Amino acid sequence: MLTDYHCHILPGIDDGAENTETSLKMIEMMKEQGVERIVSTSHFYSHREKSVADFIAKRKAAFNKIKKKMAIKNVLLGAEVSIEHGISELPDIQKLAIEGTNIILMELPYRPYAKWMSEEIYNIAAEYKLVVMLAHVHRYLPYYSKDEIETIFSTDAILQINNEAFTSWKEKKIAKRVMADSDRFVFGSDSHNTDSRRPNWDILQKKAKADAIELSNGILDKYKK
Ligand SMILES: [Fe+2]
Repeated sequence: MLTDYHCHILPGIDDGAENTETSLKMIEMMKEQGVERIVSTSHFYSHREKSVADFIAKRKAAFNKIKKKMAIKNVLLGAEVSIEHGISELPDIQKLAIEGTNIILMELPYRPYAKWMSEEIYNIAAEYKLVVMLAHVHRYLPYYSKDEIETIFSTDAILQINNEAFTSWKEKKIAKRVMADSDRFVFGSDSHNTDSRRPNWDILQKKAKADAIELSNGILDKYKK
């Protein structure tokens, strides 16, 4: 089942789909490109939100606006949780895991690597028995040294690759490295709209091997509760 593990399809909740119409168009594009299951991962920035409960209520309201009209019905709600200092101590953080699974999608900051980042990842996994899925791991080369990237790759995290990584030779190199060394990687569109940041599943299916896509599709079911 072709699964998108990372996208911003919910209307008006983050910098993704700005309205219901765009949301529905994005989902239609995904369907045309063969997607069968979507994990919706709206941005969660702890310092901007009142609480996890408040975010979940907003997310539900946004989802209700499109729920009945979606071209793909198999949609699981999650979040893309920004890794900030102390995030592992945020009350109810475990409720941001992808519905029905033990997986939580987290995004590293775009600045030089620091040890506390790995500690937050470790603490969340240990405290709540969650598996951290690291968003678009190929994006950090300009910020992290090769050794630091190795440190991140050697955690137990699932490594998420964006479809558009296959359009840049530098990022493709990292994506290929991840796919060669690990059996814990998944693909996601990280789509935000229908043009500049569209789903790109057509690109992925042209550029990545079918068995790699198959492996990615199976990960979600491995971590079902
Ligand atoms: Fe994202």
